[in-house]
Amino acid sequence: MGKIFITSALPYANGPTHLGHLRSTYIPADIYARFNRMKGHDVLFVCATDEHGTPIAVKAEKEGKKPLEIATRYHEMIKEDLLSCNISLDNFSRTTDPVHYELSQNFFLNLYNKGFIHEKEIKQPYCEKCARFLPDRYVEGICPDCGSEGARGDHCEACGRHLEPTQLLEPQCLICSNKPEIRESKHYFFKLSHFQDDVQNWITNNNDLPPNVKNYALQWVKEGLKDWILTRDMEWGVPVPLEGAEGKIIYVWGEAFLGYLSSAKQWSKKSNKDWTEYWDENAVHFIGKDIIYHHSIFWPALLMARECTLPKNIIAGEYLSLEGQKMSTSKNWVIWTSDFLKDFDADILRYYLTINAPLNKDTDFSWDDFQRRINDELADVLGNFLHRTFSFTKRFFQNVIPDTESFVEEDLEFEELIKNAPGKIGDLISQFKFREGLVGIIKMAKAGNKYFNDQEPWKTIKSNPEKAANCIYLCNQMSKTLGILLRPYMPNKSSEILQILNIGEEIVNIEKWDDAGIFLDSGHEINKAKPLFAKIDDDFIEKQKEDLYKNLGADNKDFESPEKAKSNTTPDNSNKTVETDKMGQIINIDDFAKLDLRIGQVTSAEAVEGSKNLLKLKVDIKDKELQVVAGVAKKYSPEEILNQKVAILVNLEPAKLFGIKSEGMILATGDSSSLLTSQNADVGERIK
Ligand code: 2FM
Ligand code: ZN
Repeated sequence: MGKIFITSALPYANGPTHLGHLRSTYIPADIYARFNRMKGHDVLFVCATDEHGTPIAVKAEKEGKKPLEIATRYHEMIKEDLLSCNISLDNFSRTTDPVHYELSQNFFLNLYNKGFIHEKEIKQPYCEKCARFLPDRYVEGICPDCGSEGARGDHCEACGRHLEPTQLLEPQCLICSNKPEIRESKHYFFKLSHFQDDVQNWITNNNDLPPNVKNYALQWVKEGLKDWILTRDMEWGVPVPLEGAEGKIIYVWGEAFLGYLSSAKQWSKKSNKDWTEYWDENAVHFIGKDIIYHHSIFWPALLMARECTLPKNIIAGEYLSLEGQKMSTSKNWVIWTSDFLKDFDADILRYYLTINAPLNKDTDFSWDDFQRRINDELADVLGNFLHRTFSFTKRFFQNVIPDTESFVEEDLEFEELIKNAPGKIGDLISQFKFREGLVGIIKMAKAGNKYFNDQEPWKTIKSNPEKAANCIYLCNQMSKTLGILLRPYMPNKSSEILQILNIGEEIVNIEKWDDAGIFLDSGHEINKAKPLFAKIDDDFIEKQKEDLYKNLGADNKDFESPEKAKSNTTPDNSNKTVETDKMGQIINIDDFAKLDLRIGQVTSAEAVEGSKNLLKLKVDIKDKELQVVAGVAKKYSPEEILNQKVAILVNLEPAKLFGIKSEGMILATGDSSSLLTSQNADVGERIK
């Protein structure tokens, strides 16, 4: 059996995890790791927190703390999140660990000594007031490409373009708002261009790479690879290990990948096993789709330069939106892992995020769909099959798996279905088709219910007891197979099922995937049944939706994430799918002038079905009428708000709330939802 090195992308230590992280990266990687262990492979599954980079340094500076304090806080939170989701990592390290510094510096030196890193004087923004260079997001300005304000020195959020700090128009120092000057600074460049053909061949010839990774990667590589700046003028990071490079650190993306290796190295120290054997045999990276470029181009090129074995595969999970809208930590349009797990077992989350859509498709978390799947699939299909099997065994066979007589065709077909399942489902998981594997398991349980119904053991127990015995014998076998096949997906539920079946190591090695189809003996006694999957009631879902939507209704402007409230800091860039934090920013008069605020009059008002907080309003602003969904229902009934004059922001990007288009925002106070208004003003009058 082979060795496998599995990694999941290193989360930035500047925020806790949310469901987007789990869906794209951590749950799929864990399913794959658990499955391969059950197949008898020797798995090494590692991760670490990515603790360098300007977001953490900037956050620390704003909070008056040391970057390491910030990183430590989030390292602990993330670790807790991953543990409570049962992500079975063999090691979870940090890129601030001394093992990582040493490995990264040696890697850099190796490339430098081979001539793959060269020096060049380049122009960089420098803030005289702060007396330092302004790398990446330390400088902000106008995007030269799309004209958006607030573009950062490395990236424009609005158009997604990669930027160099000197390209920004009207640049400003993020810390003191001073206009930076341009100074020369010596930097170190990796000769990425040298690897153009090798990287292109590697991608082209690697038939394991899934289409989403392969297509993106080839498209970029064909555009031509340019040398890549590998250093920054700043303090927070791994120092460049060369004389004359004082004050310079290795760029975070120049060392983050090495976190995979340094975490494994740390594991080697503890386990006395050699991690390189795992890496050299078969390495698989699980990442989010926003970092395909880095993993399919930079990383292989760095490894080629270092003459290391390349990874065998890169699996990129796509994005998760929430109730049809892009997640945003700053707008609290997000579900934090720790919040979700207050109400549900981690397995329920693992189930939903896996069955919801294939990994290579963007998908959406919606509370209604979540409720439907848990109730219809887990409770009504899987839970029902297991429960009726176990209850019937207790009631008519004293909890003992009965003897069988000769099988009829239906029994034989059902038996074959059970015996073939480990092979079929296993093939899907090996091909990273995690959703398809889980759908296969639920289909098995469906077939189990059909077989149970068709056999009618509640009748045949009297009229044809042998037929009833065959049915209950086979249904217990299917329960056992289901219990084992569910193990990579839902480890807790799997244990509960196998516990009811009274399966211990002495009977069958429950960790062995290929033994999942081996039958239990007649005469084997099982334990008492207990409910496995509870239904989620409408009130609970209603409450979740309300909690989420109330933040986006009238008081969209003034809320804090639960995590922010706790720590007085906002996670930004915790996932590329989420928007960065704009709160606490000072705006100037021009920014204010962009807000088209008017006096409007409510011409119709009705409750929004399914929400206790929202009203659907029509608001006359003289030249037109806007439809607005406002979170004021707790304070005003539709009759009370009708005909009221209100202050309304009319040039807000339209959004959908509860599926209803909202074209503006009524201004109201944050806590009591009291309307801001002036009854004396004219309809349509501008507020300035
Ligand atoms: O994009 C991110 O969240 C990075 N922290 C991922 C790093 S993965 C690897 F390179 F280490
Ligand atoms: Zn400054």
